Amino acid sequence: MPTWDPTRYLQFADDRSRPFVDLVARVQSDAETIVDLGCGPGHLTEVLRARWPDAAIHGVDSSAEMIDRATGSNDDPATTYELADVSTWSPDAPVDLVVSNALFQWVPDQLDVIGRLADHVAPRGTFALQVPRNYDSPSHTLLRDIASEAAFAEHTSDIRADRGTDPVAYLDLFTDRGWDVDLWETTYFHVLDGDDPVLDWVSGTGARPYLQALPDDLRDAFVAAYRAALREAYPRRTTGTVFPFRRTFVVARRRD
Ligand SMILES: C[S@@+](CC[C@H](N)C(=O)[O-])C[C@H]1O[C@@H](n2cnc3c(N)ncnc32)[C@H](O)[C@@H]1O
Repeated sequence: MPTWDPTRYLQFADDRSRPFVDLVARVQSDAETIVDLGCGPGHLTEVLRARWPDAAIHGVDSSAEMIDRATGSNDDPATTYELADVSTWSPDAPVDLVVSNALFQWVPDQLDVIGRLADHVAPRGTFALQVPRNYDSPSHTLLRDIASEAAFAEHTSDIRADRGTDPVAYLDLFTDRGWDVDLWETTYFHVLDGDDPVLDWVSGTGARPYLQALPDDLRDAFVAAYRAALREAYPRRTTGTVFPFRRTFVVARRRD
């Protein structure tokens, strides 16, 4: 399993936090219990805490590095974190609000996992999730193209490349259960600083499995090729580098 680097991930914390704020803004709930699946380094817990000051918040993540960071910076007794894989994790009791930001694209058979976890949402409770859907963008097509070149393919061919999920599949999943669903997409136009900000962004997330799969000597060649291709695809402007990023949002609510 590739590992996560919380410091690298937090490099674009402002831009990465925006979808979470937009997701939570659409939740109508007086939640007393909240679970944040794939909570990452815990920096978004404060968004939940500001909105639900009295709720018990529980973050779940399968990365020891992320959970260590979240736990280390937590001084809120009503917030807890747990190291666990959401594919098999279940809460001890029904949850008023399950929230998940940029997690499920990493989870094999994500619709089955979401469906299983939806069964743990309390009556009138909510399941709110956001996933990226930019797999046809140059940031990802270039990654896959370069990884498939003969020099790299031996090390990268087994990597599961998520091609995104049809948003309507989420709609069906919840409406089949009789839930109300608010489904939408947003394309953010992030304006990023630095010489290679798209490379830096993707190296903290989608490119990690590729970078970690390659031996050191090949990794340098891979990064050089990827960097050059990204510079061409995302030219730097006077204001910075524009990185369009489409994301799918689902806020599903049990009627009873
Ligand atoms: C892109 S980060 C999102 C972190 C945070 N939710 C945010 O929006 O900033 C994805 C997170 O999902 C976690 N993750 C990936 N697969 C997981 C799984 N099967 N179970 C639990 N967490 C997982 C990773 O460890 C990582 O912290």
